[in-house]
Amino acid sequence: MQVALKIWRYDPEGGDRALREYEVDAPEWVTLLDVLDLIKDRQDGTLAYRKSCRMMICGSCGMRMDGAAVLACKTRMYDIAEAGHVPVISAMGNLPIVKDLVVDMAPFWQKFRAMKPWLEPGYVEPPDGKEHRISQERMNVIHKESLCINCGCCVSECNSMESDPEFLGPQALAKGMRFVGDPRDGRKVERLEDYNSEHGIWDCTRCYFCTERCPKGVDPRDAIAKLGAESVKEGITRDMGAKHAKWFVTSAKTTGWLRETELVPKTQGVVSSIKQMKFAMSLAKHGKVPPPVPPHVADKVDEARALHEIVSAQDRRGFLGHVQGERAIARIERAVEEDPEHATASRDAADVTPGRRLTRRTAD
Ligand code: SF4
Ligand code: SF4
Ligand code: FES
Repeated sequence: MQVALKIWRYDPEGGDRALREYEVDAPEWVTLLDVLDLIKDRQDGTLAYRKSCRMMICGSCGMRMDGAAVLACKTRMYDIAEAGHVPVISAMGNLPIVKDLVVDMAPFWQKFRAMKPWLEPGYVEPPDGKEHRISQERMNVIHKESLCINCGCCVSECNSMESDPEFLGPQALAKGMRFVGDPRDGRKVERLEDYNSEHGIWDCTRCYFCTERCPKGVDPRDAIAKLGAESVKEGITRDMGAKHAKWFVTSAKTTGWLRETELVPKTQGVVSSIKQMKFAMSLAKHGKVPPPVPPHVADKVDEARALHEIVSAQDRRGFLGHVQGERAIARIERAVEEDPEHATASRDAADVTPGRRLTRRTAD
């Protein structure tokens, strides 16, 4: 079959960028990486990209196809070529480009190392002196995070990193969760303190692009949610993000709705709220916030309160509570739609390949 690609080339010496089109004759089973190899072998030996394993393990071949990160060795070209589409291939986002499709991974590894990605001593030695036996329930907490191959596809698409390059980012935080959730680690609270500082977990905007683009089902946004839940459980709630999340729970429990008018003072404090009074009045004038009195209470608020009591009695807090709901959510997802196009990353759908349909990020 004929496969055509447009590739954004970058020459580091002259600083020129150019979109070049290539077309090769390729077998039907080819991946994007195979097509790049064919182009490099037959047409243009100067094309630069990274690869190693060719089997979705080493994490080297992350790049963008039509503006969304993919692993080149995981992306089959048959459907794309059959549709007559000519995808645009470019280097990953949020990392400096070295040449063509090769990015400088130094900032990525710097954040990775900042997570202290190793087990810290301090845990209790097993009584028989032999080995740690960890229950399946505890392994479930870090199962997805353990699948990370450090490819950087999540970092490429992270909205928060685009506006704040210092943000720790989805890969580093997923790595952090892998150790926070490990019962053998002796530094859980200190890790959580670190990740709650500036540029940490609460700077995530919850856009879910990291989860959408991760080729291994790691679900980094979920890892960040688990870190947030565990932080609140451990009483680490100094950040506005944590206060914000706590107020959502209080609102749902007391009125069944979000008590928006009180959200700002509860999150940012009274002084900051007074400073924003003019803005608040303007929102109220345009009907964007409900008046504080009478309170906005849901019709069946008793049900919301009863639900809160049931969940509180079950002590579903922290990462363990978060993981308890995962299987139920995965079942709902499957029931809603069997089509892989609509499958989202989860432990039960860890190998959904982007590319059965075009991987372009659409406006909707
Ligand atoms: S959900 Fe958070 S970490 Fe993930 S891409 Fe969006 S902003 Fe980044
Ligand atoms: S979380 Fe997923 S996308 Fe991000 S580096 Fe790990 S494997 Fe790659
Ligand atoms: S070449 Fe190793 S993950 Fe693609």
